Amino acid sequence: MERKYQYALITGATSGIGYELAKQFAKNGYDLVIVARNHEELKNKAEEFKAFGANVISISKNLFLQDEVYSLYSELQLNGISPEILVNDAGQGVYGKFQDTDIHREINIVNLNIISVILLTKLFLKDRLHKGSGKILNLASIASKAPGPWHSVYHGTKAFVLSWSEAIREELKDSGITVTALLPGPTDTDFFNKADMNGSRILEDRENLANPEQVAIDGYNALMNGDDKIISGFKNKLTVAMTNLATDDMAAYRMGEMQKPVTEK
Ligand SMILES: NC(=O)c1ccc[n+]([C@@H]2O[C@H](COP(=O)([O-])OP(=O)(O)OC[C@H]3O[C@@H](n4cnc5c(N)ncnc54)[C@H](OP(=O)(O)O)[C@@H]3O)[C@@H](O)[C@H]2O)c1
Repeated sequence: MERKYQYALITGATSGIGYELAKQFAKNGYDLVIVARNHEELKNKAEEFKAFGANVISISKNLFLQDEVYSLYSELQLNGISPEILVNDAGQGVYGKFQDTDIHREINIVNLNIISVILLTKLFLKDRLHKGSGKILNLASIASKAPGPWHSVYHGTKAFVLSWSEAIREELKDSGITVTALLPGPTDTDFFNKADMNGSRILEDRENLANPEQVAIDGYNALMNGDDKIISGFKNKLTVAMTNLATDDMAAYRMGEMQKPVTEK
């Protein structure tokens, strides 16, 4: 594969969908800036991506914190790096009824899933607009399309990501910069484990979870086509079509039934 000598900046590139996306970019000739918190994981994954011929810069940042988002971008600029592609992948959820969940964890999740995404995108746009080219891939979810009892703050953050992505895409239509939202359904990554969600009915049949590599391929292709969004997988396209037909309270009821604990009748 011919080297492109362009960087893709990918948050959350050490695990799950972000890791598979980073592989797609490396395989397709891009250099990488990979971001996550865990140093050891960054080092190990960087070695893997280098095997595809990519130049890889690993930056450990905690994107719960605004200062770390700013310092991420200023470190790139100090080193003369202007990524052509931004992938806002890092994201987390927390499982449980809102009345019971830890508000500090939820604030961190809003900071990661929303604040770090809008901040990084703002810095990316300031850097790229005068160059007249760039591509942004934002990790939304089929959760963007329905209220999510038992996972309410997460669903709200993903609804934001989709709505805001579509809005700035329209604003940027003559700028040479495209914005694409990737909407996976439940996917076989460590996400549910970290969200303390293993007791949810949605995980009763793990066979039904999507393959993160396939999700990443769908996202990569949609980004390269400049599509506005891609719902990954036929079953998820059907789920979203049904949600679009339902009233909000019906959609919330259905999602609540799907996500409630297995122990609850
Ligand atoms: N899995 C699904 O079913 C699914 C479905 C739809 C959408 N999504 C979305 O896809 C994205 C990726 O999820 P995934 O399933 O691939 O999750 P994952 O396997 O848990 O990977 C999450 C990645 O984000 C990084 N990360 C987490 N918190 C961070 C923080 N505070 N600062 C910097 N990096 C952080 C993690 O590394 P460190 O822990 O080392 O920081 C890791 O690299 C998320 O936005 C998620 O909402 C997932």
